[in-house]
Amino acid sequence: MKSIGIGLIGLGTVGSGAVKIIRRNKEMISRRAGCHVRLVRFCDKFIRSKPDLGIRSGDVTSDYHDLLKNRDIDIIVELIGGYEPARTMILDALRAGKHVVTANKAVLAKYWDEILSTAQKHKRLVYFEAAVGGGVPVIQGLNEGLAGNRIAKIMGVLNGTTNFILTKMSEENMKFSDALETARKAGFAEANPAYDIEGLDTAHKLSILSSIAFGAWVKISDIPTEGIAKLDLFDLQLAEREFGLGLKLLGIAKENRGKVEARVHPAFLPIGHPFLSVKNEYNAILIEGDSVDDVIFYGKGAGQMPAASAVVSDIIFVARHVAEGTAGRLPYVTYDEKRKIKMLKADDSLCKYYLRFTTKDRSGVLAKISGLLGRYRVSIDSVFQPTVIDEGKIGPHAHILVATHAVREGSVRKAVRQIDGLSITKAKTVVIRIED
Ligand code: HSE
Repeated sequence: MKSIGIGLIGLGTVGSGAVKIIRRNKEMISRRAGCHVRLVRFCDKFIRSKPDLGIRSGDVTSDYHDLLKNRDIDIIVELIGGYEPARTMILDALRAGKHVVTANKAVLAKYWDEILSTAQKHKRLVYFEAAVGGGVPVIQGLNEGLAGNRIAKIMGVLNGTTNFILTKMSEENMKFSDALETARKAGFAEANPAYDIEGLDTAHKLSILSSIAFGAWVKISDIPTEGIAKLDLFDLQLAEREFGLGLKLLGIAKENRGKVEARVHPAFLPIGHPFLSVKNEYNAILIEGDSVDDVIFYGKGAGQMPAASAVVSDIIFVARHVAEGTAGRLPYVTYDEKRKIKMLKADDSLCKYYLRFTTKDRSGVLAKISGLLGRYRVSIDSVFQPTVIDEGKIGPHAHILVATHAVREGSVRKAVRQIDGLSITKAKTVVIRIED
Protein backbone atom coordinates (compact mmCIF):
# COMPACT_ATOMS: atom_id res chain seq x y z
CA MET A 1 0.00 0.00 0.00
CA LYS A 2 1.22 3.49 -0.84
CA SER A 3 1.74 6.02 1.93
CA ILE A 4 0.19 9.47 1.53
CA GLY A 5 1.55 12.23 3.77
CA ILE A 6 -0.44 14.93 5.52
CA GLY A 7 0.85 18.29 6.71
CA LEU A 8 -1.65 19.91 9.07
CA ILE A 9 -1.71 23.65 9.76
CA GLY A 10 -3.58 24.70 12.91
CA LEU A 11 -3.70 22.49 15.98
CA GLY A 12 -6.73 24.25 17.50
CA THR A 13 -10.17 22.77 18.12
CA VAL A 14 -10.81 21.22 14.69
CA GLY A 15 -7.17 20.32 14.04
CA SER A 16 -6.90 18.39 17.30
CA GLY A 17 -10.20 16.65 16.53
CA ALA A 18 -8.93 15.55 13.10
CA VAL A 19 -5.72 14.15 14.63
CA LYS A 20 -7.81 12.24 17.20
CA ILE A 21 -9.95 10.65 14.47
CA ILE A 22 -6.97 9.73 12.30
CA ARG A 23 -5.21 8.09 15.26
CA ARG A 24 -8.38 6.34 16.49
CA ASN A 25 -9.58 4.99 13.11
CA LYS A 26 -6.18 4.45 11.48
CA GLU A 27 -6.82 1.01 9.99
CA MET A 28 -10.29 1.79 8.71
CA ILE A 29 -9.13 5.08 7.17
CA SER A 30 -6.32 3.32 5.30
CA ARG A 31 -8.74 0.69 4.00
CA ARG A 32 -11.14 3.36 2.76
CA ALA A 33 -8.40 5.55 1.29
CA GLY A 34 -6.65 2.59 -0.36
CA CYS A 35 -3.36 3.85 1.07
CA HIS A 36 -1.67 4.58 4.39
CA VAL A 37 -2.67 8.05 5.56
CA ARG A 38 0.25 9.38 7.57
CA LEU A 39 0.38 12.56 9.64
CA VAL A 40 3.86 13.78 8.72
CA ARG A 41 4.22 17.25 10.25
CA PHE A 42 2.25 20.03 11.93
CA CYS A 43 2.40 23.80 11.83
CA ASP A 44 1.10 26.06 14.58
CA LYS A 45 2.04 29.56 15.65
CA PHE A 46 1.42 28.99 19.36
CA ILE A 47 1.35 25.24 20.09
CA ARG A 48 4.73 23.50 20.35
CA SER A 49 3.58 19.97 21.22
CA LYS A 50 0.46 18.00 22.17
CA PRO A 51 1.51 14.96 24.19
CA ASP A 52 -2.14 13.83 24.62
CA LEU A 53 -2.30 13.42 20.82
CA GLY A 54 1.20 11.95 20.54
CA ILE A 55 2.53 15.16 18.93
CA ARG A 56 6.06 15.93 20.13
CA SER A 57 7.92 19.22 19.80
CA GLY A 58 9.99 17.92 16.87
CA ASP A 59 6.75 17.28 14.95
CA VAL A 60 5.65 20.95 15.03
CA THR A 61 7.01 23.95 13.18
CA SER A 62 5.82 27.55 13.26
CA ASP A 63 6.76 28.09 9.60
CA TYR A 64 4.31 26.58 7.09
CA HIS A 65 6.98 26.68 4.38
CA ASP A 66 8.60 23.72 6.18
CA LEU A 67 5.51 21.70 5.30
CA LEU A 68 5.47 22.90 1.68
CA LYS A 69 9.15 21.92 1.23
CA ASN A 70 8.62 18.46 2.73
CA ARG A 71 8.54 15.89 -0.09
CA ASP A 72 6.75 13.35 2.11
CA ILE A 73 3.73 15.65 2.32
CA ASP A 74 1.10 15.34 -0.42
CA ILE A 75 -1.84 17.08 1.23
CA ILE A 76 -1.90 20.32 3.23
CA VAL A 77 -4.79 20.59 5.68
CA GLU A 78 -5.48 24.24 6.51
CA LEU A 79 -7.40 24.67 9.78
CA ILE A 80 -6.50 28.14 11.00
CA GLY A 81 -9.58 29.93 9.61
CA GLY A 82 -9.90 33.61 8.60
CA TYR A 83 -8.90 35.38 5.38
CA GLU A 84 -5.15 35.85 5.90
CA PRO A 85 -2.67 34.24 6.25
CA ALA A 86 -4.92 31.30 5.26
CA ARG A 87 -5.32 32.56 1.68
CA THR A 88 -1.56 32.88 1.15
CA MET A 89 -0.93 29.47 2.71
CA ILE A 90 -3.50 27.76 0.46
CA LEU A 91 -2.22 29.47 -2.70
CA ASP A 92 1.41 28.72 -1.79
CA ALA A 93 0.51 25.09 -1.08
CA LEU A 94 -1.17 24.69 -4.50
CA ARG A 95 1.75 26.37 -6.26
CA ALA A 96 4.12 24.03 -4.40
CA GLY A 97 2.22 21.07 -5.87
CA LYS A 98 0.29 20.09 -2.74
CA HIS A 99 -3.41 19.23 -2.63
CA VAL A 100 -5.44 21.15 -0.07
CA VAL A 101 -8.14 20.27 2.44
CA THR A 102 -9.63 23.23 4.29
CA ALA A 103 -12.47 23.95 6.71
CA ASN A 104 -12.19 27.66 5.98
CA LYS A 105 -15.47 29.08 4.67
CA ALA A 106 -14.32 32.69 4.97
CA VAL A 107 -11.32 32.30 2.68
CA LEU A 108 -13.27 30.25 0.11
CA ALA A 109 -16.19 32.67 -0.04
CA LYS A 110 -13.91 35.67 -0.40
CA TYR A 111 -11.30 34.20 -2.78
CA TRP A 112 -13.31 31.52 -4.61
CA ASP A 113 -12.05 32.50 -8.09
CA GLU A 114 -8.43 32.89 -7.07
CA ILE A 115 -8.26 29.62 -5.10
CA LEU A 116 -10.12 27.46 -7.63
CA SER A 117 -8.31 28.90 -10.65
CA THR A 118 -4.92 28.38 -8.95
CA ALA A 119 -5.91 24.78 -8.14
CA GLN A 120 -6.95 24.23 -11.76
CA LYS A 121 -3.79 25.79 -13.14
CA HIS A 122 -1.59 23.55 -10.99
CA LYS A 123 -3.85 20.50 -11.41
CA ARG A 124 -4.37 20.17 -7.68
CA LEU A 125 -7.46 19.39 -5.61
CA VAL A 126 -9.14 21.61 -3.02
CA TYR A 127 -11.68 19.85 -0.79
CA PHE A 128 -13.72 21.73 1.81
CA GLU A 129 -16.51 19.60 3.29
CA ALA A 130 -16.09 21.10 6.79
CA ALA A 131 -16.57 24.64 5.49
CA VAL A 132 -20.36 24.28 5.36
CA GLY A 133 -22.63 22.44 7.78
CA GLY A 134 -19.89 21.14 10.11
CA GLY A 135 -20.26 17.36 10.10
CA VAL A 136 -23.14 17.36 7.57
CA PRO A 137 -21.85 16.12 4.18
CA VAL A 138 -23.68 18.79 2.21
CA ILE A 139 -20.83 19.76 -0.12
CA GLN A 140 -20.43 16.20 -1.32
CA GLY A 141 -24.22 15.80 -1.37
CA LEU A 142 -24.71 18.88 -3.52
CA ASN A 143 -21.62 18.50 -5.72
CA GLU A 144 -21.89 14.77 -6.36
CA GLY A 145 -25.13 13.37 -4.98
CA LEU A 146 -27.28 15.95 -6.75
CA ALA A 147 -25.04 16.44 -9.80
CA GLY A 148 -27.82 15.47 -12.20
CA ASN A 149 -30.08 18.31 -11.07
CA ARG A 150 -30.50 21.96 -11.95
CA ILE A 151 -30.68 23.55 -8.54
CA ALA A 152 -33.67 25.83 -8.04
CA LYS A 153 -33.28 26.69 -4.39
CA ILE A 154 -31.06 26.36 -1.33
CA MET A 155 -32.35 27.29 2.09
CA GLY A 156 -30.38 26.59 5.24
CA VAL A 157 -29.94 27.03 8.94
CA LEU A 158 -26.21 27.35 8.43
CA ASN A 159 -24.84 28.75 11.66
CA GLY A 160 -24.73 26.65 14.82
CA THR A 161 -23.90 29.51 17.18
CA THR A 162 -26.87 31.71 16.30
CA ASN A 163 -29.20 28.71 16.19
CA PHE A 164 -27.96 27.75 19.66
CA ILE A 165 -28.58 31.31 20.92
CA LEU A 166 -32.08 31.52 19.41
CA THR A 167 -32.99 28.11 20.87
CA LYS A 168 -31.77 29.01 24.37
CA MET A 169 -33.47 32.45 24.26
CA SER A 170 -36.84 31.18 23.10
CA GLU A 171 -36.99 27.88 25.01
CA GLU A 172 -35.13 28.66 28.21
CA ASN A 173 -35.51 32.46 28.36
CA MET A 174 -31.70 32.65 28.52
CA LYS A 175 -30.19 36.10 27.99
CA PHE A 176 -28.52 36.70 24.62
CA SER A 177 -25.10 37.30 26.20
CA ASP A 178 -25.29 34.14 28.37
CA ALA A 179 -26.33 32.00 25.40
CA LEU A 180 -23.47 33.41 23.31
CA GLU A 181 -20.97 32.71 26.11
CA THR A 182 -22.21 29.10 26.38
CA ALA A 183 -21.86 28.65 22.59
CA ARG A 184 -18.39 30.16 22.70
CA LYS A 185 -17.26 27.84 25.50
CA ALA A 186 -18.64 24.82 23.60
CA GLY A 187 -16.36 25.74 20.68
CA PHE A 188 -19.19 26.61 18.25
CA ALA A 189 -18.47 30.31 17.74
CA GLU A 190 -15.96 31.92 15.38
CA ALA A 191 -12.78 33.48 16.81
CA ASN A 192 -14.70 36.73 16.34
CA PRO A 193 -18.30 35.83 17.27
CA ALA A 194 -19.55 38.95 15.45
CA TYR A 195 -19.15 36.83 12.28
CA ASP A 196 -21.82 34.48 13.64
CA ILE A 197 -24.10 37.12 15.16
CA GLU A 198 -24.05 39.53 12.20
CA GLY A 199 -24.79 36.75 9.70
CA LEU A 200 -21.44 36.89 7.88
CA ASP A 201 -20.61 33.24 8.65
CA THR A 202 -23.96 32.23 7.13
CA ALA A 203 -23.22 34.44 4.10
CA HIS A 204 -19.82 32.74 3.65
CA LYS A 205 -21.48 29.32 3.66
CA LEU A 206 -24.30 30.42 1.35
CA SER A 207 -21.75 31.89 -1.06
CA ILE A 208 -19.98 28.50 -1.26
CA LEU A 209 -23.18 26.46 -1.68
CA SER A 210 -24.59 28.79 -4.33
CA SER A 211 -21.29 29.02 -6.21
CA ILE A 212 -21.36 25.21 -6.54
CA ALA A 213 -25.09 25.08 -7.31
CA PHE A 214 -25.13 27.83 -9.94
CA GLY A 215 -21.70 27.13 -11.46
CA ALA A 216 -20.17 30.56 -10.87
CA TRP A 217 -18.95 32.62 -7.94
CA VAL A 218 -21.73 34.19 -5.86
CA LYS A 219 -19.79 36.85 -3.95
CA ILE A 220 -20.48 37.74 -0.33
CA SER A 221 -20.86 41.35 -1.44
CA ASP A 222 -23.86 40.17 -3.55
CA ILE A 223 -25.60 38.66 -0.53
CA PRO A 224 -27.59 41.20 1.52
CA THR A 225 -26.94 40.08 5.10
CA GLU A 226 -28.71 40.73 8.41
CA GLY A 227 -27.87 38.97 11.66
CA ILE A 228 -29.72 38.37 14.89
CA ALA A 229 -28.23 41.12 17.08
CA LYS A 230 -31.21 43.47 16.74
CA LEU A 231 -33.91 40.86 17.36
CA ASP A 232 -36.31 41.42 20.25
CA LEU A 233 -37.59 38.35 22.11
CA PHE A 234 -40.93 40.18 22.23
CA ASP A 235 -41.38 39.67 18.46
CA LEU A 236 -40.54 35.98 18.70
CA GLN A 237 -43.20 35.55 21.39
CA LEU A 238 -45.84 37.68 19.62
CA ALA A 239 -45.34 36.05 16.23
CA GLU A 240 -45.61 32.59 17.73
CA ARG A 241 -48.72 33.44 19.74
CA GLU A 242 -50.61 35.54 17.19
CA PHE A 243 -49.50 34.21 13.79
CA GLY A 244 -48.18 30.69 14.58
CA LEU A 245 -44.63 31.49 13.43
CA GLY A 246 -41.18 30.47 14.69
CA LEU A 247 -37.89 32.17 13.86
CA LYS A 248 -34.56 30.98 12.36
CA LEU A 249 -31.52 32.73 10.86
CA LEU A 250 -31.60 31.57 7.24
CA GLY A 251 -29.37 31.65 4.20
CA ILE A 252 -31.48 31.50 1.04
CA ALA A 253 -30.45 31.33 -2.62
CA LYS A 254 -32.88 30.83 -5.51
CA GLU A 255 -32.83 30.93 -9.24
CA ASN A 256 -35.33 33.59 -10.21
CA ARG A 257 -36.08 34.19 -13.92
CA GLY A 258 -32.46 33.73 -15.05
CA LYS A 259 -31.06 35.62 -12.08
CA VAL A 260 -29.87 34.42 -8.71
CA GLU A 261 -31.32 35.83 -5.55
CA ALA A 262 -29.26 35.25 -2.40
CA ARG A 263 -29.87 36.66 1.08
CA VAL A 264 -29.17 36.04 4.76
CA HIS A 265 -31.58 37.22 7.43
CA PRO A 266 -33.71 36.06 10.35
CA ALA A 267 -37.05 34.78 9.06
CA PHE A 268 -40.28 33.49 10.49
CA LEU A 269 -41.46 30.06 9.39
CA PRO A 270 -44.90 28.53 9.94
CA ILE A 271 -45.12 26.22 12.96
CA GLY A 272 -44.69 22.68 11.60
CA HIS A 273 -41.92 23.68 9.17
CA PRO A 274 -39.14 21.06 9.55
CA PHE A 275 -36.51 23.76 10.18
CA LEU A 276 -38.25 24.74 13.43
CA SER A 277 -37.25 21.41 14.93
CA VAL A 278 -33.58 22.17 14.13
CA LYS A 279 -32.31 23.18 17.57
CA ASN A 280 -29.08 24.27 19.26
CA GLU A 281 -25.92 23.83 17.16
CA TYR A 282 -27.66 21.68 14.55
CA ASN A 283 -27.82 22.81 10.91
CA ALA A 284 -30.29 21.89 8.18
CA ILE A 285 -29.97 22.59 4.48
CA LEU A 286 -32.81 22.14 2.05
CA ILE A 287 -31.84 21.81 -1.59
CA GLU A 288 -34.44 21.75 -4.34
CA GLY A 289 -33.38 20.06 -7.55
CA ASP A 290 -35.42 19.86 -10.75
CA SER A 291 -35.44 16.05 -10.70
CA VAL A 292 -35.04 15.05 -7.08
CA ASP A 293 -37.35 17.79 -5.67
CA ASP A 294 -36.56 18.62 -2.01
CA VAL A 295 -33.67 17.04 -0.12
CA ILE A 296 -32.82 18.03 3.46
CA PHE A 297 -29.36 17.55 4.99
CA TYR A 298 -29.36 17.67 8.79
CA GLY A 299 -26.84 17.27 11.59
CA LYS A 300 -24.37 18.97 13.89
CA GLY A 301 -23.21 22.14 12.17
CA ALA A 302 -20.59 23.24 14.68
CA GLY A 303 -18.27 21.75 17.26
CA GLN A 304 -14.94 19.97 17.31
CA MET A 305 -15.73 16.39 16.31
CA PRO A 306 -18.45 17.02 13.68
CA ALA A 307 -16.15 19.48 11.84
CA ALA A 308 -13.19 17.10 12.25
CA SER A 309 -15.31 14.28 10.82
CA ALA A 310 -15.75 16.29 7.61
CA VAL A 311 -12.04 17.16 7.43
CA VAL A 312 -11.06 13.50 7.74
CA SER A 313 -13.54 12.46 5.06
CA ASP A 314 -11.88 14.98 2.70
CA ILE A 315 -8.43 13.69 3.61
CA ILE A 316 -9.53 10.13 2.81
CA PHE A 317 -10.91 11.03 -0.62
CA VAL A 318 -8.03 13.28 -1.65
CA ALA A 319 -5.54 10.63 -0.44
CA ARG A 320 -7.41 8.03 -2.47
CA HIS A 321 -7.11 10.15 -5.62
CA VAL A 322 -3.42 10.79 -4.94
CA ALA A 323 -2.78 7.07 -4.43
CA GLU A 324 -4.63 6.23 -7.66
CA GLY A 325 -2.76 8.95 -9.55
CA THR A 326 -5.98 10.74 -10.53
CA ALA A 327 -5.77 13.71 -8.15
CA GLY A 328 -6.19 17.04 -9.91
CA ARG A 329 -6.84 15.66 -13.41
CA LEU A 330 -10.28 17.17 -13.01
CA PRO A 331 -11.24 19.82 -10.45
CA TYR A 332 -13.45 18.76 -7.53
CA VAL A 333 -16.18 21.31 -8.21
CA THR A 334 -17.15 22.56 -11.66
CA TYR A 335 -15.71 25.97 -12.06
CA ASP A 336 -15.48 28.33 -15.02
CA GLU A 337 -14.04 31.73 -14.23
CA LYS A 338 -15.61 33.23 -17.37
CA ARG A 339 -19.14 32.29 -16.34
CA LYS A 340 -20.83 35.18 -14.54
CA ILE A 341 -24.13 35.18 -12.72
CA LYS A 342 -26.70 37.97 -12.81
CA MET A 343 -27.88 38.73 -9.29
CA LEU A 344 -31.43 39.88 -8.56
CA LYS A 345 -31.57 43.34 -6.94
CA ALA A 346 -32.56 43.12 -3.25
CA ASP A 347 -35.47 45.55 -3.88
CA ASP A 348 -36.96 43.13 -6.44
CA SER A 349 -37.06 40.12 -4.17
CA LEU A 350 -40.55 38.92 -3.21
CA CYS A 351 -41.35 37.86 0.32
CA LYS A 352 -44.04 37.95 2.98
CA TYR A 353 -43.35 40.21 5.95
CA TYR A 354 -44.08 40.53 9.64
CA LEU A 355 -44.27 44.22 10.56
CA ARG A 356 -44.60 45.59 14.09
CA PHE A 357 -45.53 49.27 14.22
CA THR A 358 -45.19 51.13 17.53
CA THR A 359 -47.57 54.07 17.51
CA LYS A 360 -49.61 56.50 19.57
CA ASP A 361 -52.75 54.79 20.82
CA ARG A 362 -55.45 56.91 19.20
CA SER A 363 -58.04 56.87 16.47
CA GLY A 364 -56.99 57.05 12.84
CA VAL A 365 -53.60 55.39 13.37
CA LEU A 366 -54.52 52.09 11.75
CA ALA A 367 -56.10 53.91 8.79
CA LYS A 368 -52.91 55.93 8.23
CA ILE A 369 -50.72 52.85 8.32
CA SER A 370 -52.92 50.77 6.06
CA GLY A 371 -53.25 53.75 3.70
CA LEU A 372 -49.49 54.05 3.29
CA LEU A 373 -49.05 50.29 2.92
CA GLY A 374 -51.75 50.36 0.23
CA ARG A 375 -50.05 53.26 -1.58
CA TYR A 376 -46.96 51.08 -2.06
CA ARG A 377 -49.03 48.01 -2.93
CA VAL A 378 -48.12 46.18 0.27
CA SER A 379 -51.07 43.84 0.59
CA ILE A 380 -52.12 42.93 4.14
CA ASP A 381 -52.82 39.32 5.04
CA SER A 382 -53.70 39.84 8.72
CA VAL A 383 -53.58 42.52 11.41
CA PHE A 384 -53.50 42.22 15.18
CA GLN A 385 -53.23 44.74 18.00
CA PRO A 386 -52.06 43.18 21.27
CA THR A 387 -52.84 44.92 24.58
CA VAL A 388 -49.75 46.81 25.78
CA ILE A 389 -48.98 45.78 29.34
CA ASP A 390 -45.63 47.49 29.86
CA GLU A 391 -45.45 51.10 28.64
CA GLY A 392 -41.66 51.08 29.01
CA LYS A 393 -39.63 54.24 28.41
CA ILE A 394 -41.76 55.55 25.55
CA GLY A 395 -45.00 56.02 27.53
CA PRO A 396 -48.50 55.06 26.35
CA HIS A 397 -48.36 53.39 22.94
CA ALA A 398 -49.90 50.67 20.78
CA HIS A 399 -48.33 47.85 18.81
CA ILE A 400 -49.87 47.02 15.47
CA LEU A 401 -48.79 43.71 14.00
CA VAL A 402 -49.23 43.18 10.28
CA ALA A 403 -48.51 40.04 8.29
CA THR A 404 -48.34 40.84 4.56
CA HIS A 405 -48.85 38.82 1.41
CA ALA A 406 -45.73 38.36 -0.78
CA VAL A 407 -44.52 41.82 -1.82
CA ARG A 408 -41.44 43.45 -3.35
CA GLU A 409 -38.84 44.28 -0.72
CA GLY A 410 -38.39 47.76 -2.20
CA SER A 411 -42.10 48.52 -1.67
CA VAL A 412 -42.04 47.41 1.96
CA ARG A 413 -38.93 49.48 2.67
CA LYS A 414 -40.45 52.61 1.11
CA ALA A 415 -43.76 52.24 2.97
CA VAL A 416 -42.02 51.61 6.31
CA ARG A 417 -39.68 54.57 5.80
CA GLN A 418 -42.70 56.85 5.34
CA ILE A 419 -44.57 55.35 8.29
CA ASP A 420 -41.47 55.75 10.50
CA GLY A 421 -41.45 59.45 9.62
CA LEU A 422 -45.05 60.04 10.80
CA SER A 423 -45.73 61.88 14.08
CA ILE A 424 -47.95 58.99 15.23
CA THR A 425 -44.98 56.57 15.11
CA LYS A 426 -43.16 56.16 18.45
CA ALA A 427 -40.39 53.70 17.55
CA LYS A 428 -38.71 52.27 14.46
CA THR A 429 -40.87 49.60 12.80
CA VAL A 430 -39.71 46.02 13.18
CA VAL A 431 -39.47 44.29 9.78
CA ILE A 432 -38.93 40.50 9.66
CA ARG A 433 -39.46 38.30 6.60
CA ILE A 434 -41.79 35.32 6.60
CA GLU A 435 -40.72 32.30 4.51
CA ASP A 436 -42.97 29.37 3.77
N1 HSE B 1 -19.16 29.36 13.96
C1 HSE B 1 -19.67 28.38 13.11
C2 HSE B 1 -21.10 28.06 13.51
C3 HSE B 1 -18.82 27.14 13.19
O1 HSE B 1 -21.49 28.45 14.62
O2 HSE B 1 -21.83 27.46 12.74
C4 HSE B 1 -19.12 26.11 12.14
O3 HSE B 1 -18.88 26.59 10.86
